[in-house]
Amino acid sequence: MKAEIIIDKNFIIGDVDRNIYGSFIEHLGRAVYEGIYQPGHETADEQGFRQDTLELVKELQVPIVRYPGGNFVSNYFWEDGVGPRDRRKKRMEIAWRVVETNEVGLDEFADWAKKANTEVMMAVNLGTRGISDALNLLEYCNLEKGSYYSDMRIANGHEQPHAFKMWCLGNEMDGPWQTGHKTSYEYGRLASEVGRAMKIMDPSIKLVASGSSTSSMPTFASWEAEVLNECYDEVDYLSLHQYYNNIDNDSADFLARNLEMDHFISSVVSICDFVKAKKRGKKDIMLSFDEWNVWYHSNNAPVQAWSEHPHQLEDIYNFEDALLVGSLLITLLRHCDRVKCACLAQLVNVIAPIMTSDTGAWRQTIFYPFLDCSNYGNGTVLNTIVKAPVYDSKNFCDVPYIDSVVLVNDEEGSVTIFAVNKNQEEAIEVTSDLRQFDNYSLKWHKVLQHNDLKAVNTEEDPWQVVPQLSYSTVFAAGKLFMNLEKQSWNVIRLEKN
Ligand code: AHR
Repeated sequence: MKAEIIIDKNFIIGDVDRNIYGSFIEHLGRAVYEGIYQPGHETADEQGFRQDTLELVKELQVPIVRYPGGNFVSNYFWEDGVGPRDRRKKRMEIAWRVVETNEVGLDEFADWAKKANTEVMMAVNLGTRGISDALNLLEYCNLEKGSYYSDMRIANGHEQPHAFKMWCLGNEMDGPWQTGHKTSYEYGRLASEVGRAMKIMDPSIKLVASGSSTSSMPTFASWEAEVLNECYDEVDYLSLHQYYNNIDNDSADFLARNLEMDHFISSVVSICDFVKAKKRGKKDIMLSFDEWNVWYHSNNAPVQAWSEHPHQLEDIYNFEDALLVGSLLITLLRHCDRVKCACLAQLVNVIAPIMTSDTGAWRQTIFYPFLDCSNYGNGTVLNTIVKAPVYDSKNFCDVPYIDSVVLVNDEEGSVTIFAVNKNQEEAIEVTSDLRQFDNYSLKWHKVLQHNDLKAVNTEEDPWQVVPQLSYSTVFAAGKLFMNLEKQSWNVIRLEKN
């Protein structure tokens, strides 16, 4: 099979906002406790943060981490998690039916984020709380000093404000499972009032309104339009959430699911632009795809109710999950003109690229495409035309076997190609005319490939699915010849001479 990638350096989609390589840590399962924080662990630092986890997080170069939820935030009392630890309350945490010990709160998380070279994207509770609590939290986090809550932060040992820039106005408020679930009008009004008040207190912040919790929600589309109708003036982003699964064990269909993400993003862009037009607005609402991943492996795992940080949502990711994650990242990049933030949900232990046990921390299969994009996917995304053979699957028609996107980075002097070959039988020869880059040389071609789509990495066998160098690519006389192995994720890197 043959395919062609067509680009022109003048045909540009946009610049990548690095926040699209964000992630998410919720007070859920072992994400915080035993994930990032485990006092007494052999790698724990003086604050109890695991260094083995921290090293893997740093490797991923995650620019922003959403916190503290998720469903958790909708009945969260942030005051429970600040101040002296021995006075912190244990709470019945109703979103996940566990006990939250509050040993880690926002001050500790802000410290961890600094150590991880990342920013915090803070969420406020709009399920059971409202304007005054959001203001108190903002005052605690972002005001320098001289007010009740900013002075409380200083008394709690944090002289400098945390200065969080991105704030989520609640979480998945369209979902009937959400504590304090609302209609679009109720939520839109609340988001508008909370947002207005928060921006009076700190005009530098950016606000994310909650969009649909999946594109299959019955209220999808009207929810977005009605919410934005109320809070267009106050917010900067609208959120999208979507998880993908292969419960039917139909890999060809599963690997096509990024087409669904593509359609979801285009639809939400249209709705944002519709509201802008209706309001004769001046600003574009940007998209924050702040929960996305594969999630289904752990769905029926039993959990002991009202226990403390039990094993929850611990998906063990296989190789085909990594391929889809690669295609989803390509899709996000192809929409980089409007998707300005995205969070792989989540980061550690809970539906995550990083897993820990008492004895170690390791990289799941999905770690690798995320690592590649975050490390090499910087600069300008070119409008990449892929001429590839197509296939039909159960839910999709004309699925291209090749997903690809090309980025140029003048500062780095690089051209980077990400590509997935979804064909389970055959390698595909892909060519690209790169005469515009004839003063560049091919540096390397990295490939993540495995003959078994169900292969996994475990603590005992962490190197089952790992990237290798490929020596099959040639760049000669301005033409790039790439051999993309069957079922593979590829990164091809050219650099200026
Ligand atoms: O990420 C797990 C959960 O998925 C989050 O708490 C919620 O927002 C979503 O439904």
